[in-house]
Amino acid sequence: MGSIKVVLLGLGTVGEGVYNSIVRSHQERLTKVLGKEVEIVGILVKNERNRPILETVKVTTKVEELLELPTIDFVFEAIVGIEPACSYIKLFLDRGCHVISANKELLAHKGEELTKYAMERNRFLTFEAAVAGGIPLLRTILQLLQVNGITELEGIMNGTSNFILSKMRVNHLDFTEVLQEAQALGYAEANPESDVSGRDAFYKLMILSSLIYHQQPKWEEVERVGIENVKAVDLLIGEEYGLRLRLIASLKKSLDGVKATVKPTFVSNGHPLYNVEGVDNGIVISTDLVGTLLLQGPGAGSKATASAMIEDLVHIQQQKIPSFESQRGSHQEVCAGQKDPLITLAIFQLSEKVEWNDVWREFNETGESTVVLGTSLKEYNGFTYGSVLFKGRLPRFEQSILYNTYPVSPKGLKGIEEKLLTPVNN
Ligand code: HSE
Repeated sequence: MGSIKVVLLGLGTVGEGVYNSIVRSHQERLTKVLGKEVEIVGILVKNERNRPILETVKVTTKVEELLELPTIDFVFEAIVGIEPACSYIKLFLDRGCHVISANKELLAHKGEELTKYAMERNRFLTFEAAVAGGIPLLRTILQLLQVNGITELEGIMNGTSNFILSKMRVNHLDFTEVLQEAQALGYAEANPESDVSGRDAFYKLMILSSLIYHQQPKWEEVERVGIENVKAVDLLIGEEYGLRLRLIASLKKSLDGVKATVKPTFVSNGHPLYNVEGVDNGIVISTDLVGTLLLQGPGAGSKATASAMIEDLVHIQQQKIPSFESQRGSHQEVCAGQKDPLITLAIFQLSEKVEWNDVWREFNETGESTVVLGTSLKEYNGFTYGSVLFKGRLPRFEQSILYNTYPVSPKGLKGIEEKLLTPVNN
């Protein structure tokens, strides 16, 4: 009984997690499930240095040396960026290996092309780990929701941002302080700009769009706002209305095509993502048969990613023959219904209390096009902040007064809207 031979491309947080799970923590379990041992035969690293790796493993900086290994069944690709990852994947698919990737940027750009490339060679290319970390999301969509039409999907798809927003709110900390902690915990990307600007969540959303709708929206038309400008006080003001801020990525099919956005959005406690805290991701899938599903779990980190990648290996090994459906959704796509009303939380920094009256006057002058749902005044770090939660159009304000605005998800807001009509503390 021969072993299953695997190669790792990359030995960062993800590669290390896979190595440790295969060689150490889950060796026995894997052998039991597969009836064979899984053996790591080679690892591609960026630079030569001493690492606690088994002597039987070929550790090299040269991909050619790995391609020369006598047998390779699977390749775990955990490199950052499009190239050289794309070329390497093709080389290994050409060699007859199945590929398991966690590379979001690559898959958002070239997922379709690479999937086709793999299928032409009768090989699997799977990437459960690339979207929502350890949550079994892609295979839930691909295999367990084939008849269900997916009308809409929205989720917290970046663990780093959710960790930062949760910690800022609970501990009243600034953005930069918490970002450093996320990096130290191995949640953030090598360059955390991708996490906090919403680019990482955007890539994941584009992968999902290809998978579900077999198309992506035009990238330049996708509204993408990160969390870099969120202030601790914004989160505290949100709490006064019973709202929490999440970086929400959403995907919807309408008659005009696929619409996607990534932006910080407040949610109320009636929203499925309200309790998704810390590094957890949460994905809400709205369907026309089962209804609304929430999948929640660790969205980043070494173990979460390794879990998704190793389960991919088991899945491929048990499936044996790749089919089109196993690599791309075959379920029906369905258009979403009516548009949700626009609700916004606007925050104003007031230098003199009298400015609060100016704010009020502007809102009153918009007439019926704007409905104020609630207001609050808050002192924080020596400044006074006024906020207005409203439905409809934001009056024109000078930049210096208007501090920040956020959309508020209308999901789960019903019922508490009436309560909000009573101003909280003014
Ligand atoms: N940096 C990513 C995140 C890792 O924070 O979600 C998982 O894709």
